[in-house]
Amino acid sequence: MEQFIIEGNRNLSGTIPVSGAKNAILPAMAACLLAPGTSTLHNVPHLIDLKTMSLLLRVLGAKVEMENDVLSIDASHIDSYEAPYELVNKMRASIYVLGPLLARLGIAKVSFPGGCAIGTRPVDLHLMAMEALGAHITVEHGYINAKADKLVGADIYFPKSSVGATINALMAAVLAKGVTSLFNAAMEPEIDATIDFLNLMGAQISGKGTTTLVIEGVEKLHPAEMEMIPDRIEAGTFLIAGALSTNPVTVTNCNPNHLTLPMEKLRASGCELEVENCSITVYPPEIIQPVDIITLPYPGFPTDLQAQFTVLMCLADGISFIEDTIFPDRFAHVAELNRLQADIRVEQNIARVKGVKKLSGAEVMATDLRASAALVLAGIAAEGKTVISRIYHIDRGYDHIEKKLNAIGAKITRS
Ligand code: UD1
Repeated sequence: MEQFIIEGNRNLSGTIPVSGAKNAILPAMAACLLAPGTSTLHNVPHLIDLKTMSLLLRVLGAKVEMENDVLSIDASHIDSYEAPYELVNKMRASIYVLGPLLARLGIAKVSFPGGCAIGTRPVDLHLMAMEALGAHITVEHGYINAKADKLVGADIYFPKSSVGATINALMAAVLAKGVTSLFNAAMEPEIDATIDFLNLMGAQISGKGTTTLVIEGVEKLHPAEMEMIPDRIEAGTFLIAGALSTNPVTVTNCNPNHLTLPMEKLRASGCELEVENCSITVYPPEIIQPVDIITLPYPGFPTDLQAQFTVLMCLADGISFIEDTIFPDRFAHVAELNRLQADIRVEQNIARVKGVKKLSGAEVMATDLRASAALVLAGIAAEGKTVISRIYHIDRGYDHIEKKLNAIGAKITRS
């Protein structure tokens, strides 16, 4: 199993580019199932999660090809409706095929996603939305079976903001008969990107950027081509790397509009930021100030940056409180950071981080995608050598993170 060996070094400086957003590409790939023909996605990075989704689409009958950063998906023939356990088990976002399969074939069988390292993650809201659109759902032998002669538009109110359930509902409703309204829909930039892609395919969705989305069902969709949005979580991770450095770091190919709150929190920690159209330069502070954060649905602070921001707070001059309201159990990184001599205590869904003068390199284990990114940042900021095992987690969502960070002065070896 591969590991990262990191020689601590806080002298990062230079320019680091951001890749396309995994969490926008996954739904776009699933959406391709809605229309016969070949759709094309640009700015697609090499990530394990995208390979898993490609594999799943192939199992369903699609042809998927990747050349450089261009992904083509030919969904002319979809001859299976089953998302098997082996793939869903690897990646929860496999549930994104549920809506498109139901809409296109009237039937879907998707393995029930299990638990994961960041706690229980139910899919009840996905199923509630499919049922509201007229699907008959049963759960048997670990599989969700969904059937519908014809989906019919409906008013759907989400009791909780859910990115995944909003996306699945959108993808099912675009081909439903009549009008669907989604209330309390999630409004993450990845939702906007999904709406843009579906509308390019011929869907009629309005309300983008708000929590009420209205979908007028259409008879059929056609293939489309789109440039994928930059990954705001990768951008945020690199900004935090810059904040931990002793020199300025410029993050390029990003969309600063998607990073308003993370930037506000970085400023509060003492960073100066220079914001251009597609880039942000972070000038790190001499003394990092403690800052509290609470993760919330967009435009709140993203839970996917919680672990990385915690690393910054480990070296702050004082105490900060980090609360995760989205995934209350998402603190697996804390025990590992404490092995690097951080001083963090977790009670319920709040971490109390007491800043220390320095972190000290040690052997640690990556537990999930964003926790792994946090450990990489901590390894860079720590004195001495840090060895991170189980780094396959990080390859799920970051394209060659060590190469990108080494290009700005980090010392990370994959072995
Ligand atoms: C997506 C992102 C993930 C991010 C999360 C929150 C992808 C592939 N993943 O995950 O990186 O951390 O948004 O921004 O885009 N919930 C239910 N019932 C459901 C669905 C969700 O109770 O049916 C709960 C979840 O447990 C969680 C909250 O709703 O507490 C938000 O989860 P959701 O937005 O659905 O996250 P994902 O779409 O799984």
